[in-house]
Formats: sequence, structure tokens, C-alpha cells
Amino acid sequence: MTISAFPARRMRRLRAQDALRNMVAENQLTVNDLIYPVFVLPGKNSRQSVVSMPGVERLSIDLLLKETEKLAELGIPALALFPVTPADQKTEGAEEAFNANGIAQQAMRSLKAEFPHIMLMSDVALDPFTSHGQDGLVNESGYVENDKTVEVLVKQAISHADAGADIIAPSDMMDGRIGTIRQALEKQGHTNTCIMAYSAKYASAYYGPFRDAVGSAANIKGGNKKTYQMDPANSDEAIHEIAMDIQEGADMVMVKPGMPYLDIVRRCKDELKVPTFAYQVSGEYAMHQAAFANGWLNKEAVILESLLAFKRAGADGILTYFAREAALLLKQS
Ligand code: PBG
Repeated sequence: MTISAFPARRMRRLRAQDALRNMVAENQLTVNDLIYPVFVLPGKNSRQSVVSMPGVERLSIDLLLKETEKLAELGIPALALFPVTPADQKTEGAEEAFNANGIAQQAMRSLKAEFPHIMLMSDVALDPFTSHGQDGLVNESGYVENDKTVEVLVKQAISHADAGADIIAPSDMMDGRIGTIRQALEKQGHTNTCIMAYSAKYASAYYGPFRDAVGSAANIKGGNKKTYQMDPANSDEAIHEIAMDIQEGADMVMVKPGMPYLDIVRRCKDELKVPTFAYQVSGEYAMHQAAFANGWLNKEAVILESLLAFKRAGADGILTYFAREAALLLKQS
């Protein structure tokens, strides 16, 4: 390509008015790109704020149904459900994870009955259900055992599909879980239940506020997830993981966290060309909210700019705690 020189080319010509800028915009954020993560409480008429995530509330199912009416009006296409399990239901074996009447399963059935067109994404991992806060079953030395964990994850995934999940999203980072879950779904007749693999999920310190929200922070006791989640130093490894998950049967893949890992989103899109999602995680949300609360950043503008950056990096969609607010802003603009 020959690039003509100034003044034949003045880059500012196409920036001179709104209509022109819109016409040549390379990327656009729409409500169709947004997946809204929600925290679900047991019981009724219960609402709790999450201190480290201002503006995010954990809701019991009845209140979540009311909230979903508003989300549906805004056109939000999908919810990602995260159950908050009472401490006395957490065990070493995470049995509550595949309870057909668990909080996540109940929420899915209620939401599907009232809002059949809103897609439900279910998190498959054991950390909200284990007494030690790890994503899998641990042995005597505290190591998370891969293959035993996968057996439980399969039960959890099937119970979610039975309860109406449209998208199963394993976030546990065990090896081989995508293939095993896919086979089990096929066998049970859930042929159209999609899998969005949290493929490139890093052992990140940005998940702190989420662990407060689901109550796993105290259980993990300063421990970490570095023996299964990825090392933030690595990029080729992410492409390797993603390629394996696709081969095992993932329909869509995810990169997580989001903004500090947009280089991985871009590589995934360029090299593997598969449906790619990114998660703007709890810590990213918390730091934005802190800056908004201090008046250091303009809330509306920064929310939309931060989400547009995901689209520019190649993401097909974004999981974000700003989904509701962004949908409202997009509607107004
Ligand atoms: C569970 C899970 C986590 C998140 C999503 N699913 C926490 C973790 O891996 O410790 C984090 C989401 C966020 O920080 O917003 N495995």
C-alpha cells in the first residue's frame, strides 16, 4: 500500500464531523456483545451489596427475576450465573455443585421459564462449593487433583444443562474437561448446549473482589490457583490451551482477565479465528468504580471506551459487570 503524504493526506479530514467519524469507525459496541455476570443468593427477598464491587448486588432468585425484566427491556442477551453458597453447604467434595436443586440450578429453571429468550451461561468450577475454596478436589498435600475433579465437573455441567443452561462455561482450568463434558452432553441428548471454555484463564490477582462476592476468599486463606490457572508471563501457552479446547469441542473460548490481556484476545482471533470472548473481571470493575467515585475518571465515557477496546482487540463479546449500565448508555446514545 502506498501512503500518500501530507497535504494530499490529512488524517484529520475524516475526523472533522460526527457523521464521518461514525461512517469510518472500524468497530462498534452494541448490546449484543454484552454478557452480564450476576451473583445469586439463597432464600427470598434478599439483597446484599458487595463492598469491593460498588453497584453490584447479590440477589435472591425472586429479586433476580424482577431485575431480569429490566435487563430484558435493555436487550441484554445473556446472563452468567454465580451462586453464593452458604458456608455450611460447602464440603471437601463440593457435592452441592451438582445438586439438581442447588441455587444455580433453581435460578436457571426460574429464569428460563420466565425469560426463554435470555441466554443463560453457567460457571462450571467447584470453588463456590468447596470448603477450601479451590476449583477442584484436593489431595492430602493440598494439590488439586485433575482427573477426579473432572468427574465432578461433568456432573455439575450435566445438572446445569438439565436445568436449562444454554452455555456451559468451565472456568476451572483442569486438563481434558472440555472433551469429557462435551461427550457427556452429547450422550445425554444436550447436543445444542454450547460450551464456552475459559481457555486462557490466568492466575490473576484481579479476581479478589469476585472471591469476596461468592464468599470463597476467606476459605482459600491466602492460597493461590497457580497449579492450574495460567502464568501471567505466558502468551504462546494461551494459544496452545485455546487450540486444545477447540479440538476437544469448545464452541467459543474466553480470555480472562480482560483489559490487561487484550494482547491474548488479539492473538487468539488472528491465529485461531474462533468465537472469542473476554471477561472484564471483578478487579477491573473495582478499580474503575474507585476512580469514578473519586471523580478521577468520567464514568459514562470510560465504561464505553473500556468495552470498545475489547471489540478493537477482536473480542466477539464481553462479560462485564458494567453490562447493565453500558446497555443503558448505548440505548441513550
Ligand atoms: C471461578 C471463577 C472465578 C471468576 C469467575 N469464575 C474466580 C477464580 O477463578 O478465582 C472470577 C471472575 C471475576 O473476578 O470477576 N472459578
